[in-house]
Amino acid sequence: MNCLFVGAGAVVREYAAGLPDSSLSLAAVCDRERERAADLADAVADAAGADAVVPAVYADLDAMLAAEDAPLVVNLTSHAAHADVTRACLDAGRHVFSEKPLALDPDEAAALVARAAERGLALGCAPLAPDCDAQRHARTLLADGRLGGVGLVYATAHVGRVTEWHERPDSFLAVGPLYDGAVYPLSVLVDWFGPVARVRSADAVDAWPARESRRPEAPPHVEATLEFAEGPVVSLRASLYADHRSREFYSLECHGDDGTLYLEDAGAMAADRESVLARGGARESVAAPHPRPRRERTHLDGPASLAREIARGDRPRDTAIRAAHVVAVCAAVEAEATDPDGTGRTVAGVDAAGPSGAVGDRAAPATRPPPEGRRDDAALRLPPVGFGCSRYRDGTYVDRVDSVATALDAGYRLLDSAELYGNERRIGDLLASPGSPDREGLFVLGKAWNTNHGRLREACEGSLGELGLDAFDCYALHWPDAWAYTEPLRELAERPVAEREALTFPETDDGERATADRDLAATWRDLAALREAGLTRTIGICNVGLERLRSLVAETGIEPALVQVERHPYTPRRDLVAWCHERGIRVVAHSPLSAPGLLDEPAVREVAAEVGASPAATVLAWNVADGVVPIPSSVDPDHVVDNLAAARVTLTPAQRARLADLADPGFER
Ligand SMILES: NC(=O)c1ccc[n+]([C@@H]2O[C@H](COP(=O)([O-])OP(=O)(O)OC[C@H]3O[C@@H](n4cnc5c(N)ncnc54)[C@H](OP(=O)(O)O)[C@@H]3O)[C@@H](O)[C@H]2O)c1
Repeated sequence: MNCLFVGAGAVVREYAAGLPDSSLSLAAVCDRERERAADLADAVADAAGADAVVPAVYADLDAMLAAEDAPLVVNLTSHAAHADVTRACLDAGRHVFSEKPLALDPDEAAALVARAAERGLALGCAPLAPDCDAQRHARTLLADGRLGGVGLVYATAHVGRVTEWHERPDSFLAVGPLYDGAVYPLSVLVDWFGPVARVRSADAVDAWPARESRRPEAPPHVEATLEFAEGPVVSLRASLYADHRSREFYSLECHGDDGTLYLEDAGAMAADRESVLARGGARESVAAPHPRPRRERTHLDGPASLAREIARGDRPRDTAIRAAHVVAVCAAVEAEATDPDGTGRTVAGVDAAGPSGAVGDRAAPATRPPPEGRRDDAALRLPPVGFGCSRYRDGTYVDRVDSVATALDAGYRLLDSAELYGNERRIGDLLASPGSPDREGLFVLGKAWNTNHGRLREACEGSLGELGLDAFDCYALHWPDAWAYTEPLRELAERPVAEREALTFPETDDGERATADRDLAATWRDLAALREAGLTRTIGICNVGLERLRSLVAETGIEPALVQVERHPYTPRRDLVAWCHERGIRVVAHSPLSAPGLLDEPAVREVAAEVGASPAATVLAWNVADGVVPIPSSVDPDHVVDNLAAARVTLTPAQRARLADLADPGFER
C-alpha cells in the first residue's frame, strides 16, 4: 500500500528503516523544512536500490494531500502538531497512523477517534508496546493467575534530559514527560488491566538544572497514584529530570497477593532473556524468557499492520481508542499535579475508552505452531519446551521441588511427572501454593509405572490424588513392558532407596526381572478407558519403537496423542517422529541433554558459538526445530532458565544438518 510520511524529524528514520522489508511504499514525504523531507526521500530511494523512484517531496501538507492519492498517512510530526495533522488527513479521506501522543487534549483525542469512525477510516496510534514480545509475555504470565490479585504496580518513565540526548528537544520540553514517556507504561497497563478510573493524587517536582538555558514548559517530573477501574493502584513516576540511564528506565513492577512480576522496559520492541522476571510466593525472582522464537518489532509494524487490516476491509481504531484514553490519563495527572487544591480527579471518558480487554480475557498457555507436515487439527498444543521432574540423576536422587518451583516461575508450562519419580505429592503441594500458575495454564503429563499395567486406574487415581488434580492432560505408559505388581507406588521419595527400588524393579528369586504376563494391547485399551472416564484428557506411551507402536495402533485402533522417547542428535528417531507427526501425534524428547559427551561434541560447541547460545540450549533448539518438545531437567536455576530460552534459539538448516550428522545408529546409554 502506498503511504505518505508527514514530518521528517528524528523518529522518521526509525520508520523509514523498515520500508525495504515492508509491504508499504513511500509515495511522498512532507516537512515544513523541505530540505529535511528531501534528505529523507533520497535516503529511502538509496535504500530501495538503483531503479527506485524517489518519493515526492512537499513542504505543505495540503499540497501533498491534494496531489497524492496514497490511502494511508503516517503522522510523524512533533507532539503538539499530531492532532492538527491527523484531523487534516482524516478530513482528506485518508487513513492515519499517528506517533504518540494522539493529541495533547483528551477532547481533541476523542474527537479524532469519532471523526475516523464517522468517515469509515482507520486510525492507529503508537506505541506498539502492548503488542511487543516482552509485554505480551508478561501479560500471559500475569494472566495465568500466579500473582493472585494484582494490588499494586510501580510504573516508571525516565525520559531523561532531552536537552542532552535529543537534537531538537523543544517539543519534549513543551509537553513534559507524561505525553512522551508515561504513554509507554500506561499503554501497556491499559492493555492489561483496562481503563484508569481516577487519579487519586499527583505531584509535580520542579527539578531542573539551573545552568540549563532551556527549561521544560510542563512539569519536568511528575508522580501520581492512579486507580484502575477494575485493576490495581499504580504508582507512576515520569521524569525529564531523572536520568534515562537510571536503574529504572521504563519499568513496570506488578505486585500481587501471591508474587511479583517485573517487566524491565515497557517500551521494548523485543524480548530479551531477562526482560521479564517472575517470582511466586516467597521464592527468589527468576528470568522468565519468552518461550517463542524472538520476534523483534519495528516502528513501521504499526502502520504496516494497519495497512493490512485496511486491505482486508477492516477499519480498525482500537489502538487510537486506547491512545485517546492514555491522553485523558495524562491530562488528568497533569491537571492534578499542578492544582494546589487537588483532591484527586476522575479520568474523562472512561466508559468510552474500551481498551482491548483486561488480564484474564486472553489467558492462554504458551503454544507453538505445529511443525511442518503435521496434521494440525487433532494435535495437542504444547509449549515448545517442558520440564522433567525425575529425581534420578546418575545413580543418585536429587530433590526436585525447588527446581520445579523455579521452572514454574520461569514460565515452564509442561511438567513431566511420573509415579516412579516419587515426588507427586510435593509437586501437588507446590501447585496448590500461592504463586503457582492456574491449572488451566499447565500441561501435566503423568506416567503409570511398569508394575501397574494391570492396575492402571488405581495408579492413575493415586497419582492424581497426590498431585491434587482432577485429571491429567496426558497419562502415559512409562514403558510398554509389564512387570509383576508389587503395591501402590505412593510417596516413593520418602522411602529408603533399597525399599523403593525393590518396589519398582521387582525381581524373581533368582535375581531376574519379575515380568507380568500381560498383553500390551489390553493395557492400552485400559488406558483409553481412563480417558473415557475423564481421568485424563489424552493418552500416551513412552519408550516405544516405531514397529511396536504401529502394530499397537493397528491392533487396537487407538492412537496416542503423545509419544515420549529419548531423543537428541545422537538418536534422532526420524522415522518414528515422521510417522507420529503425519498423524498429529506429538513427540516429547526425554533425556535431551544427558547423553554422555553430547554437550562436549565439537559440532555442538561450534553451532552454539555461532548462534550465541549454550551447548545445552543448542541441542534443545535442535529438538524444538523438529517440532519435538524436549523436557530437560536441572537443579541449577540458571540452567532452568537457559533451557526454556532455548525455544527462541533459531538454527539454520545447515546448522541443523551439522547436528544431525551426529546421529549414531548404535547409540546406547
Ligand atoms: N519416560 C522415560 O522413560 C524417561 C526417562 C528418562 C527421563 N525422562 C524425563 O526426561 C527428563 C529429563 O531427563 P534427565 O533428567 O534424564 O536428563 P536431561 O534433562 O537430559 O539432563 C539433565 C542433566 O543435564 C544437566 N543440564 C541441564 N541443563 C543444563 C544446561 N543448560 N547446561 C549444562 N548442563 C545442563 C543437568 O545438570 P544441572 O542439574 O546441574 O543443570 C543434568 O545433569 C526427566 O526429568 C524425566 O522427566 C523420562
